[in-house]
Amino acid sequence: MTEESVVNEKSAEHMAKDHREISISQFFEKNRHLLGYDNKIKALLTIIKEGVDNALDATEEARILPDIYIKIEEIDKETYRIVIRDNGPGIIRAQISKIFGKLLYGSKFHRLRQSRGQQGIGISGAVLYAQLTTGESTKILTSTGKGKTHKIEMKIDVKTNEPKILKDEVIDGKEWKGTQITIVVEGIYREHKQSVIEYLKQTAISNPFANITFDSPNGRVEFKRAVDHLPKEPKEIKPHLYGIEVGIMTRMLQETKGRSILGFLTTEFSRVGKKSAEDICKKAGIDDKISPKKIEHSQIVEMVKAIKEVKLSRPPTDCLSPLTQELVEAGLSKELNPEFVTSISRPPTVYRGWPFQIEVGIAYGGSIKEASVMRLANRVPLLYQSGDCAISKAVAGVDWKRYGLSGDKIPDAPVTIFVHMSSVWVPFTSESKEAIASYTTIIKEIKLALQDCARKLSIYLSGIRKAERIAEKRRIYEKYAHETAVALNELTGDEKEKIEKAILKIVEEKWGEIEQELIEENDKETGVEKEDENK
Ligand SMILES: Nc1ncnc2c1ncn2[C@@H]1O[C@H](COP(=O)(O)OP(=O)(O)O)[C@@H](O)[C@H]1O
Ligand SMILES: [Mg+2]
Repeated sequence: MTEESVVNEKSAEHMAKDHREISISQFFEKNRHLLGYDNKIKALLTIIKEGVDNALDATEEARILPDIYIKIEEIDKETYRIVIRDNGPGIIRAQISKIFGKLLYGSKFHRLRQSRGQQGIGISGAVLYAQLTTGESTKILTSTGKGKTHKIEMKIDVKTNEPKILKDEVIDGKEWKGTQITIVVEGIYREHKQSVIEYLKQTAISNPFANITFDSPNGRVEFKRAVDHLPKEPKEIKPHLYGIEVGIMTRMLQETKGRSILGFLTTEFSRVGKKSAEDICKKAGIDDKISPKKIEHSQIVEMVKAIKEVKLSRPPTDCLSPLTQELVEAGLSKELNPEFVTSISRPPTVYRGWPFQIEVGIAYGGSIKEASVMRLANRVPLLYQSGDCAISKAVAGVDWKRYGLSGDKIPDAPVTIFVHMSSVWVPFTSESKEAIASYTTIIKEIKLALQDCARKLSIYLSGIRKAERIAEKRRIYEKYAHETAVALNELTGDEKEKIEKAILKIVEEKWGEIEQELIEENDKETGVEKEDENK
């Protein structure tokens, strides 16, 4: 060691003075991009998204058809007042402060049930962003429908990640049910492809049972409800063993009320019978009667290994709430007025123990002018990070030319490709929930669904092409009938109209035969792909 380095060396005790715990709010204060607040344009979108996702989750869980009102108003340069109001169940007083004033607080993280939110970080993240950028508190009005409205003004104490209540009032006598939040933030309002308006349009498509009214800085936009029933209610499920890793297993073993490992495995997880639990313990070399609290780290590692070797039933899929083909097509039709729409709802399947289901819709023509892909997870549009998303990879993996559509990666045609993944746990690539991680099983399912819809679209398109070709042939026959009549008239002096009529009569009589020949010829040329399932 040189003399110089000895002089500069610092002791561990000295360095320890700089160590301190930071709260989750402090962490996101520094890393707000992780929550979707990378820039002022995206910030407005993120706030609307968090508010509207919560409104849709709350109404859906309470089985209420959603009526959502949104307002974005510029109150100063690059400063906006945002209002989001829903007709949901409202929030009880005891919960308000924590929901809006504490990051990582929510009802959904601990519960395996399909919903838009899953981390309890969304709306409190927005409150934090507001106070960081404008210093303003967030205002909440909420009522559970008993004539009493809570009016709260609050911020987050970043050091402790606890709510800081500035105003707490009760207003009597107003009959309504729902929640309204008002947030003042720094931002920039734009109307491009990754904007609030695009998010709302895609939300209206994937939630065709919702009424959404948006007062934008440029005027009112309304997205009207097209169906008056909600998708089926998802059931809550227990985790599946195939998805459990050592860390989670360790925590669950500590928290369980089960008295033996056998009891723990059969009650805390979905679809584990006594026989499978015994098998796992045997393979891991564990006595199945010992207390879960007594199990050692090395035994947990063995247990997780053993799980992979035991055949378990798949988890139940009633925890999923797919849109169904009816809603996919209703949504695409009402917002895009396409000339043709088709869809498929694949059967549910599993990645890492989590059930999921893929639905795809393809809309063609009408008001659609160019190709685009709509990516959705639990009915929420994903607008950023498309390059990292399993959906984009699956779309690029389809050989569109096989289906009569030119273009590489994405068809070169006026199509909207809608891909929806429902799951109790969507594997997002980051907290801001913008892209779906590329699990092979997920990509494969999406591809199969895309191929199915592409096939149906290609049949439709070849039908159109066929009809166009035949009509064109008929026009040619008719033109020749006229020209032949003119020529014969010059030769024979017979009346032109009479000759033309006679020729047309022959064409009419023979048309069935000619048409059949044309159809066969056309089918030979454009031979539509039959089955792709095994590719
Ligand atoms: N508009 C609302 N109406 C009723 N409950 C709400 C509303 N907004 C949020 N909540 C409740 O607050 C919780 C936290 O919301 P949030 O921070 O967005 O996290 P997440 O949606 O991921 O759970 C939700 O789980 C929900 O229980
Ligand atoms: Mg949320």
